Amino acid sequence: MNNLASLLRKNKFLILGCGFSGSFFAKTIRKLGCTALTSSRSKNKDPNSFVFDSENGIVPSEEVFDGVTHILSCIPPNKNGNDPVLRILQSKLESLSLEWVGYLSTTGVYGNTEGDWVSERNKPNPLQKRSLNRLNCEKEWIESNLPVQIFRLPGIYGPGRSTFEAIRNQKIRVITKKDQVFSRIHVADIANAIIYLLQNKDILKFHKIINIADDEPCSQIEVIQYCYDLLGLKMPKPTLFEEVKKELSPIAQSFWMENRKVSNKLLCETLGYKLIYKNYKLGLKNCFLNL
Ligand SMILES: NC(=O)c1ccc[n+]([C@@H]2O[C@H](COP(=O)([O-])OP(=O)(O)OC[C@H]3O[C@@H](n4cnc5c(N)ncnc54)[C@H](OP(=O)(O)O)[C@@H]3O)[C@@H](O)[C@H]2O)c1
Repeated sequence: MNNLASLLRKNKFLILGCGFSGSFFAKTIRKLGCTALTSSRSKNKDPNSFVFDSENGIVPSEEVFDGVTHILSCIPPNKNGNDPVLRILQSKLESLSLEWVGYLSTTGVYGNTEGDWVSERNKPNPLQKRSLNRLNCEKEWIESNLPVQIFRLPGIYGPGRSTFEAIRNQKIRVITKKDQVFSRIHVADIANAIIYLLQNKDILKFHKIINIADDEPCSQIEVIQYCYDLLGLKMPKPTLFEEVKKELSPIAQSFWMENRKVSNKLLCETLGYKLIYKNYKLGLKNCFLNL
């Protein structure tokens, strides 16, 4: 057994919020022989799943916490802008002597940099209410007595959730906006970066906040064009953001109001993580092969 597998095998993870990223992370660490229990808000057939629903006050049973060493929370802020996990489970988690707690946050906390690069060293400057809420949740985690590491993520994509699905479900809006870029991350790089940091925890400096983003922020239209090319289809003529703005939902509009490039230098240069998918082309090829 290699070093990584033997290291993880001793651990028991709870993944709170087994959505897209949480389930990918659980699958990845289970392949390494690790125990990983996952939460969802409704009961399902998976024997490794338990129910946690902060809104309805459904908390996990005591045995779920037995022997837990690591926790990853993938649950967004609640309606009041508080962290749903801490609101209900903070004292329970603090009683567990956990080795590590990860929290998936968003790069939305940086706000709009008008296309400039932004790193962990920049002061957050949230524009949207949901990003203010997120910053508040980050603060709650940092102020807890838990060994927390926060991962700020840009747009997450991967097999089963990418522009290909939007094209296939005819939900795609082919929109262009001058000089607008977005940062992205393939879900496999979220899982692998976290595992890399855990594997090297004893030799790397512990950073409380780390961006996980790929190397090449770019416009949305480049991504859409690339997907149409891989599918061998003709991309519809793009419309200008300004022309369709009013037809978009408030949330869709808000994404276009922020323009930033998220730096991964801390993760990839200082800490030495090697991305699996350095850019959208490599990542989307992987999604295409899994269609
Ligand atoms: N999607 C993106 O592009 C993106 C970008 C940056 C950051 N993020 C953030 O990163 C995290 C992971 O993202 P994701 O897209 O992988 O998440 P996701 O697929 O939306 O999954 C979210 C999970 O949270 C659970 N959940 C939500 N409210 C809950 C509550 N009140 N009590 C208990 N569980 C609750 C959901 O439970 P059910 O399984 O029962 O639905 C689900 O498992 C989230 O915090 C997300 O906001 C996402």
